[in-house]
Amino acid sequence: MGEIIRLNNIIKRFYVGQPNELEILHGISLSVNEGEFTSIVGPSGSGKSTLMNLIGALDRPTEGTYYLDGIDVEAAADADLSDIRNRKIGFVFQTYNLIPKTTALSNVELPMLYAGVSKGERRRRAVQLLDLVEMSERAKHLPEELSGGQKQRVAIARAMANDPAIILADEPTGALDTKTGRLVMDLFHKLNEEQNKTIILITHSPELASETDRIISIRDGNIVDDEYLNGKQIDLNQWKKEGV
Ligand SMILES: Nc1ncnc2c1ncn2[C@@H]1O[C@H](COP(=O)(O)OP(=O)(O)OP(=O)(O)O)[C@@H](O)[C@H]1O
Ligand SMILES: [Mg+2]
Repeated sequence: MGEIIRLNNIIKRFYVGQPNELEILHGISLSVNEGEFTSIVGPSGSGKSTLMNLIGALDRPTEGTYYLDGIDVEAAADADLSDIRNRKIGFVFQTYNLIPKTTALSNVELPMLYAGVSKGERRRRAVQLLDLVEMSERAKHLPEELSGGQKQRVAIARAMANDPAIILADEPTGALDTKTGRLVMDLFHKLNEEQNKTIILITHSPELASETDRIISIRDGNIVDDEYLNGKQIDLNQWKKEGV
């Protein structure tokens, strides 16, 4: 099981050099192994999404180094970075971010189009992925015709399109009811267990975090706790009291 994500002393500042300069991440070091299912928890505004954007190479750190599957992200040109991102990482967001007026099937095909996959192969794989998330019957439906949970399942199929090693999910169940959130969570477990996907999940739910392999807690831009669970029970009540 090799290291797939390596952050060394990552600092993220916004408005650099301006009077309103803000330092949001203060020196994050983090290593994630292939196949790990990790959750990131912390209060609103603590820097979780900022960190996720850096891990997903959607944004660059102000200082520090980041190796994504051995690739030095700092050294990569922007064009290379978007290609690396498209192939190595699948994103799942709280608000689904599906392309409107475009069928579920086409939404899943899109990342493969950018990756230069042939039309026939795109279609074949998109059909297969919609089947995996049990959305075959809605393949020709538009996002606006789908429920929240159905949209999220299509979004997960899309995240899987280029068979990424890593899935980054920022509050993927945040807009769903408990039962639907459960379906989405089950899908992540399946992808982790059956396909060895490395999954990083941002969540406000201690219950959901407690079913992953590892919980990283962030507060005010620092990692304050990093715990491998190894099946051991954590005290959810204590956690709720602390208001994470
Ligand atoms: N592009 C940006 N420019 C300036 N400040 C930003 C930017 N993105 C985030 N921030 C600031 O960074 C801090 C952390 O934001 P972030 O979105 O990472 O928090 P979070 O932990 O994901 O919170 P939540 O749980 O509410 O999603 C906030 O104070 C936010 O205002
Ligand atoms: Mg956030």
